[in-house]
Amino acid sequence: MKAIRLLEYGGQLVFDDVPTPTIARDEILVKVKSTTVNHVDLVKASGAARQVLPINMPWIPGHEFSGVVEQIGSGVAAWAPGDAVFAANGIGGAYAEYLVVKPAAITRKPSNLSFEEAASVPVAAETAWQGIFTHGQLGKGQTILIHGAAGAVGAYAVQLASHAGATVIATASGGDEAYLNSIGASRVIDYREAQFEKVLREKVDVVFDLIGGETQKRSFLILKEGGHLVAATQPVSEEETARHRVSGAMMRLAPSAEGLGRIARLLEDGTLRTEVASVYALRDAAKAWKDIAANLSPGGSGAARRRSHGKIVIRVA
Ligand SMILES: NC(=O)c1ccc[n+]([C@@H]2O[C@H](COP(=O)([O-])OP(=O)(O)OC[C@H]3O[C@@H](n4cnc5c(N)ncnc54)[C@H](OP(=O)(O)O)[C@@H]3O)[C@@H](O)[C@H]2O)c1
Repeated sequence: MKAIRLLEYGGQLVFDDVPTPTIARDEILVKVKSTTVNHVDLVKASGAARQVLPINMPWIPGHEFSGVVEQIGSGVAAWAPGDAVFAANGIGGAYAEYLVVKPAAITRKPSNLSFEEAASVPVAAETAWQGIFTHGQLGKGQTILIHGAAGAVGAYAVQLASHAGATVIATASGGDEAYLNSIGASRVIDYREAQFEKVLREKVDVVFDLIGGETQKRSFLILKEGGHLVAATQPVSEEETARHRVSGAMMRLAPSAEGLGRIARLLEDGTLRTEVASVYALRDAAKAWKDIAANLSPGGSGAARRRSHGKIVIRVA
């Protein structure tokens, strides 16, 4: 099968022919239709986080996918060849024509989403759900401040929080205000023009921080006592949480087929909408990574690209 592989930390992505994997009796072979680019793919590949996020070389990236069940092991009852599925996975492997999964790790693809749209959902939407509900314990009538709200994770967090009956305040570029209002934010603060802690009159119950650094430090100033600071990009200072009498922790996505099932129902009934920023062919994965890296670098071309929302998707088949 065709696959994209990384042969060494910091190396180039290589478009290769590799053996098609075989399944055990409790496994499923999925024909991958689409996968995506996640920041974590680039971080793992660089080697910068090899102590905490080690990978075995050669490594096939891709932490989420949509696809079709190709073959089931003799002990698998819950799925049949031809079923359309999607999922996040913690180890990568989806930049390939076929992927082996456990039956409990996949979820039925929402019927109203294309395979490209479906592949863009699991990591961002599950991170948003776990961030605001599992870790942030957000409830109806509370107020949440979401930093980086116009990004892939942030946009789901805005929609989920608003659907749960919370008031959503968002930080983002000013050009994203109309978009964020349209998906449920009641107030948008342009992070390039204003400091949120200076313009907010009232404190919030939950901060979902998808940015880190100074943004995280300043967030303590606008959290109510007993509130929750949920960080997705860096650890939270225990000293600061104690000083401000709040709880705070860095979350790490725990992929869950059941959780993704809840999200799939919200996509099917139109409560959640999904966005795809752009689509690349599998053989062009290296270019997709270059484009996202340019978007991430300070002063890079990101501000221009960011007018489109959602994930960069890689079409495999
Ligand atoms: N811990 C976990 O399990 C987990 C899981 C998934 C993702 N993550 C992390 O979560 C972060 C967000 O992921 P994503 O996929 O949503 O990223 P993304 O799609 O690249 O979005 C980032 C957004 O942040 C905005 N932004 C940049 N600087 C900002 C600032 N100072 N204040 C407010 N907004 C700002 C950007 O807007 P402009 O481009 O207009 O500046 C962009 O809309 C990444 O660092 C990712 O690695 C963590």
